[in-house]
Amino acid sequence: MAQEPSKIEALAGRRVLLVVTGGIAAYKALELIRLLRKAGAGVRCVLTRAGSEFVTPLSLQALSGDKVYSDLFSLTDESEMGHIELSRAADLVVVAPASADFLAKMAHGRADDLASTVLLATDKETLVAPSMNVRMWQHPATQANLATLRQRGVRFVGPDDGDMACGEYGPGRMAEPAAIQTAIAGYFAQPRPLAGRSALVTSGPTHEPIDPVRYIANRSSGKQGHAIASALARLGAATTLVTGPTALADPAGVTVRRVESARDMLAACRDALPVDVAVCAAAVADWRMAEAAAHKMKRGDQAELSLRLQQNPDILAALSAAGNQRPALVVGFAAETERVVELARAKRARKGCDWIVANDVSAETGTFGGDDNTVHLIAGDDTETWPRMRKQDVADKLAERIAERLGAAAEPS
Ligand code: C5P
Repeated sequence: MAQEPSKIEALAGRRVLLVVTGGIAAYKALELIRLLRKAGAGVRCVLTRAGSEFVTPLSLQALSGDKVYSDLFSLTDESEMGHIELSRAADLVVVAPASADFLAKMAHGRADDLASTVLLATDKETLVAPSMNVRMWQHPATQANLATLRQRGVRFVGPDDGDMACGEYGPGRMAEPAAIQTAIAGYFAQPRPLAGRSALVTSGPTHEPIDPVRYIANRSSGKQGHAIASALARLGAATTLVTGPTALADPAGVTVRRVESARDMLAACRDALPVDVAVCAAAVADWRMAEAAAHKMKRGDQAELSLRLQQNPDILAALSAAGNQRPALVVGFAAETERVVELARAKRARKGCDWIVANDVSAETGTFGGDDNTVHLIAGDDTETWPRMRKQDVADKLAERIAERLGAAAEPS
């Protein structure tokens, strides 16, 4: 396969930690090492016990020019390079081939050998090239593991459709070494215009206690806020995500602070300052109990009950008015069901933020809790209407706009 020279060049000087697990495709890892080294990358290998049934440590060592690590409890290995350091010294962790069993281990956070321990301990991104029988690939258990890992930000290349060593045909064959090399190069070639910048993102709902067992909440899924944190981190920003309770996994490469109430969220946001950009995507509860009950409230005999509520702090407005701690760019969201742009413009002025991302959340749009979003970006007097797109894509586009804006602000006038 012909390679784009500009992308392949991105491999020069990079360090790849290659985890080789048990599968017939393990022999292709040898060719992958050769390609990576030819392009100037350093490769260090971790071999699982099952992997060593298919390739020998000696061949991996000969091609990588480095010691091969396989034993979690080896005194010599640990004294030379402990499993934590091994997991952090690389720029990217690549698992090729990744067996169904190893994907399951990754998804469940198991750490019973060196390879899985390294995966759990790493602070680097992970690229996985699955390799397995078509039925194992299609099994709901594998697909569920895959979905979990994707949600955590793990990247995948392949598998391809094709004839398998077991005589069956279908998806499951490991991507070719050249395709894996391209995916690795693509990762390193990604622009990082926000490197050296810091970002704060709020996400999810807040829970406001009524009594020790009940709370006021809303239906926010946190999908949009989490996707924004992930997108900003991918562009290189040191990103803190302050999130209310959600069912979502922590995005890769992001510092996550979990909170419950609006007041906790505000405190966590203040702790994260100073930052260059703050994006408030959380659906903060407007109200909390004026006084939450210390004990579970009893039903009693009365037919009605009134709760006395008190307004919560407005986090977006507070960050916009944070004096010398104010982020250079403060972005809010406005969920409206009518006159979307007009109301969002008024909100921008009221809150004192720089940009508002206005979205139509009327019931027929399915935005709340769904995967798609239709938004307008209101930046000063300019309004851009973006086509309906996935929340992930809204996040990427917004992160790009933020990078452009911060980049322009940094240029000497
Ligand atoms: O006023 P409204 O809730 O519609 O404003 C939405 C915007 O304000 C969102 O960016 C949301 O994250 C933010 N907000 C906040 N704190 C609140 C209420 C809203 O940060 N208490």
